[in-house]
Amino acid sequence: MDRPEKIHLATWPSPLEASPRLAIALGLRAGDLWFKRDDLTGLAGGGNKLRKLEYTCAKALAEGAKTLVTVGAAQSNHARLTAAAGAKLGLHVVLVLAGNRPTDFTGNLALNGLLGAEMLWAGDVDDLALEERARQEVRRLEEEGTPVAFIPFGGSSSIAAHGYADCGDELKVQAPNLAHVFTAVGSGGTMAGLVHSLGGTRVHGVDAGAVSDPEQRVRALISAMAKEDYSEPLSIRGDQVGLGYAYLTEPVEEALQLVARYGGIILDPIYTGRAFAGLIAAVREGLVRPGEQTIFLHSGGLPGFFGNPEILHLTGQR
Ligand SMILES: Cc1ncc(COP(=O)(O)O)c(C=O)c1O
Repeated sequence: MDRPEKIHLATWPSPLEASPRLAIALGLRAGDLWFKRDDLTGLAGGGNKLRKLEYTCAKALAEGAKTLVTVGAAQSNHARLTAAAGAKLGLHVVLVLAGNRPTDFTGNLALNGLLGAEMLWAGDVDDLALEERARQEVRRLEEEGTPVAFIPFGGSSSIAAHGYADCGDELKVQAPNLAHVFTAVGSGGTMAGLVHSLGGTRVHGVDAGAVSDPEQRVRALISAMAKEDYSEPLSIRGDQVGLGYAYLTEPVEEALQLVARYGGIILDPIYTGRAFAGLIAAVREGLVRPGEQTIFLHSGGLPGFFGNPEILHLTGQR
């Protein structure tokens, strides 16, 4: 399959690990549940954004960029990993973040600073206004004579999504008989790449509530990758969003505790927590059945755990 050029930022293939105690706790068979450990990919805490950045940064370098500008929520994992990629490649990184400058730089924000990224605060803005603020910054830098590459929200573009087609290809080798792959959906590139490689019937997305139109975004990215309209059905659950992206829900609380206590694996409260809550719901609904090999994509996000004021609810110590 034709892929754009990429550079090497992390350690591949990521491991695929069985989680037998957790499988049994969910009512599956011991050998059914596997974690694709894209949280263990080496650079600055790891996570799914690195696969995308390998393609995006290759393009930016080929075009002569000296500065990367991107956008995100305050605790954006994508922003942190863009900061790390810039540090590794010798590119200056400007992160335009939603909200006001906080008093405590916790979680991903602490790592952004440590990695040397510049953080600009866009105030209380919606997605469109956030991106416009970032584009203003791009224009300002270009007027100063700095070559800039702008990376869109969540790092998702049809080029970046090839990183998850690479992940799908790894899974074809590691788990040739897989029945299901569960992934969180934010800006959509991760799911789009997996569907591009594995097809639409085995890949299940769980919306985290980061964007208002997740299905359209995933579909548009798959179509752009394949250079033809993708009209097959997509499996995307919208039932785990709750009150919205930033809010902890009871199913997510259950998922984080279950995965920690039966698997020794830490999920984050925004993305992987919601995705695993979606997997639990799918098992309870009988959509995932004992005997079917089920892969959970651990897409990272641990630093976000330490930036979330609601984590006390998860410790059992409240
Ligand atoms: C930890 C984690 N998992 C999953 C996602 C969702 O990936 P995508 O934006 O490609 O849908 C994100 C996006 O920010 C993330 O940070």
